[in-house]
Formats: sequence, structure tokens, C-alpha cells
Amino acid sequence: MALESNNERPSTTLKKEHQVILRTLVVLERLVNRADAGNGFEHQAFAKSVEFLKLFADACHHAKEEDLLFPALEARGIPREGGPIGVMLYEHTVSRGFVIEMDHALVAHSAGDTGAPDRFIAAARSYISLLRDHINKEDNILYMIGDNVMTEDDQASLCSKFCEVGCKTFGGKKSEELERIADELEAAWPE
Ligand SMILES: [Fe+2]
Ligand SMILES: [Fe+2]
Repeated sequence: MALESNNERPSTTLKKEHQVILRTLVVLERLVNRADAGNGFEHQAFAKSVEFLKLFADACHHAKEEDLLFPALEARGIPREGGPIGVMLYEHTVSRGFVIEMDHALVAHSAGDTGAPDRFIAAARSYISLLRDHINKEDNILYMIGDNVMTEDDQASLCSKFCEVGCKTFGGKKSEELERIADELEAAWPE
């Protein structure tokens, strides 16, 4: 099963998804800075950002890494424990915790909790910083290691499994629809 010319490498697909996530982090940071400066807590935009992070960054992208890429790398001898895969898994877990904190802060904000915006801002800043660093490590270290150890067959098999994931829905939305959330946030909150 050779990698067909019209099928991109799995690492290319994942890197493209990183770019969509990073674009959303820019908007989220802009809104957080605005809130921090006392210029309004944009609840709806924050809720939309959190929805995107839960469904696109975690349910779709992190799941592709955890369920498909990392096992393929392990099968080629990259250790899970004490190596880059273990670090990436740990960071996914920590990032989920920050998303839960953001979610809880939004619920509390709706209920009139005046301390909720500060809790949201702190969790969002931690998430943004963690994810940027995480993506940088995957783009420049882990994916490169993966491309070096995986065979053409591994790459083709992973590519077709990614296509299967691409046909799924997350929270009732296909991944293209989730990417549109990123576009909408960018359009609504330009620099
Ligand atoms: Fe990751
Ligand atoms: Fe990633």
C-alpha cells in the first residue's frame, strides 16, 4: 500500500490542523487581553472558542494523535513511557483540565459569579501557553521523528484512517464545520 500522490502525509494533515488551532488561540488571546484590560468579557465568543477547543482540538485532533499516530510510532519503537509520546499525552491531559476550568468559569459567569471572568482568563492563558509550546514540539520534533521511523505503508495506512476520522462528526459537526468556527471567530474579532 504505497502513499498515493494525492494523499498527503499524516504529519502534513496534523500540521494543517495545528495552524487552525493556532489561529483560534490568537483570537482567544486577543479576547482575553481585552477582558483583562476591562474592555468587556465576551461570553459568547469565549463559549464559541471553548466549543472549538473541545471538539476540534481535542475530540478530533488529539484523538487522531492518541488513537492513531502515537500507536503507529510505538509500533516502530518510539517508547510511550519516558519519551516524547508520554510528554505529549501528559500535555493533552493537562490541556483538557484547562478547558474544563474555562467551561466551569463560563457556567459560573452565567450564574452571576463575579469572580468567574478572572478564573476564565487564568485558565485560558495557561491553555494558550501550553498548547503553543505543545504544537511547536510536535511540529518540530515528534512529527519529524515519526516521518523518519514510519514506512510508506505506515503512512498510507494512517492516512486512510485519518480519512475515516474526517467523516465522523464531533458534537454533531464535521471537521470542516468546526474549522469554520475558527474562521468566524477570526472574522468577528479582527486585530
Ligand atoms: Fe498533541
Ligand atoms: Fe497536535
